[in-house]
Amino acid sequence: MSKSRITRRDFLTASATTVAGGVVASCAAPDVNLANGDQQPIKLAAMVEPFAGDHQAGVTTPGQAHLNLVAFTLRPEVDRKRVIQLMKLWTEDARRLTSGETPLGDLEPELTMAPSKLTITCGFGARLFEIIGEDVPEFVKPIKAFKRDKLNPQWGEADVVLQFCSDDPMALAHATRHMIRAGIDYVATRWMQQGFLHAYGAKTTSDTPRNLFGQVDGTINPHTEEKQREQVWIDNGPEWAINGSVMVVRRISMNLDTWEILDRPSREVSMGRRLDNGAPLTGNEEFDTPDFDKTDEFGLPVIDRQSHIARATAPKDHPEQRLLRRAYNYDIPVEPGSEQTSNSGLVFVCFQKDPRKQFEPIQERLDEQDRLNQWIEHIGSAVFFIPPGVTETSYWGAGLLEK
Ligand code: HEM
Repeated sequence: MSKSRITRRDFLTASATTVAGGVVASCAAPDVNLANGDQQPIKLAAMVEPFAGDHQAGVTTPGQAHLNLVAFTLRPEVDRKRVIQLMKLWTEDARRLTSGETPLGDLEPELTMAPSKLTITCGFGARLFEIIGEDVPEFVKPIKAFKRDKLNPQWGEADVVLQFCSDDPMALAHATRHMIRAGIDYVATRWMQQGFLHAYGAKTTSDTPRNLFGQVDGTINPHTEEKQREQVWIDNGPEWAINGSVMVVRRISMNLDTWEILDRPSREVSMGRRLDNGAPLTGNEEFDTPDFDKTDEFGLPVIDRQSHIARATAPKDHPEQRLLRRAYNYDIPVEPGSEQTSNSGLVFVCFQKDPRKQFEPIQERLDEQDRLNQWIEHIGSAVFFIPPGVTETSYWGAGLLEK
């Protein structure tokens, strides 16, 4: 949980640190006073997400406003020993950046002192396992091909990923820049996907964000620790994987131009949920349980059988087909000279124990039949193992890399 009422004194104590060149990051966090429900000021700038823990931050952490998802290729000379060096270096820098401290070699403490809930999450792609001489686990192999896929290799598999999320785009940009520069001897950037949700405090009906189709997106997610244990965190298999997870990234384009031809009721039918508050069409409130058997006066299902939620929901005999969705919207300029008026979609990031039992069977159903398919296209795919969390002194992936 966020430390939302951090005082200036707490912040200074936590962040005053000596950095390379003798610079001391002793400036106070700027006062960004936002009013919450009971009108207490919250200093967004100083809000910190804990870095150490059983699990990495940035997985079950509620979505911050901005995302930089950066995938890397390990340089040819990098072997297991060098991967360990990189992970030690990156973990220490991420530990500092996320707590508002200035990492070694960073001469701009002014840009690190307002993390605004910054999280940095690291993942390993299949080729990293090959490079360190380990068998590639099945759960990190590329997602199987689907017939509607329009995958562009430009957004494909990579060796390492860093997911940066923060409520402040400045903190995000600086942390991203720092980590790319710090790793430059070990990795080359392969792709970067940027995304956004609502600005802090700008959500409308609930804490669940919206996507660019205007839908409340993220309602059915594992919100409790128990459900997260069931769906997200690896709890059996090799010791080094326990408490880790698997991230599947799908870049999905959403055609706003044709979506907007639909009237509002048709948009709701295609999802099976209302647009105003995200309630299922058989209920009134966002978290009401959808009743897929309910019929109207003509005997037709109230929630269309081909709607997105009817197709995505876990069948009763396969309750394990659920996962944690942590998608971000993207909205980038159209290609020069193109007739399109938008270039938008989702950086669809989801977490699970094993994509073969979770992402793949769900996507299998959606690929076969989902009313949303008319407006969306999967254009990128990548899979990463998310190592377990770290202690105050350990580093990402130590269990695997030192085994
Ligand atoms: C552009 C593409 C997509 C859009 C716009 C979208 C949007 C939504 C929305 C608005 C909901 C209903 C509210 C909620 O529970 O969050 C939903 C539910 C869901 N979506 Fe998607 N989604 C997309 C792609 C996917 C993909 C690729 C998967 C996984 C393979 C997926 C899996 C799910 C699941 C599991 C649910 C919950 C179903 C339930 O149990 O009711 N979605 N999605």
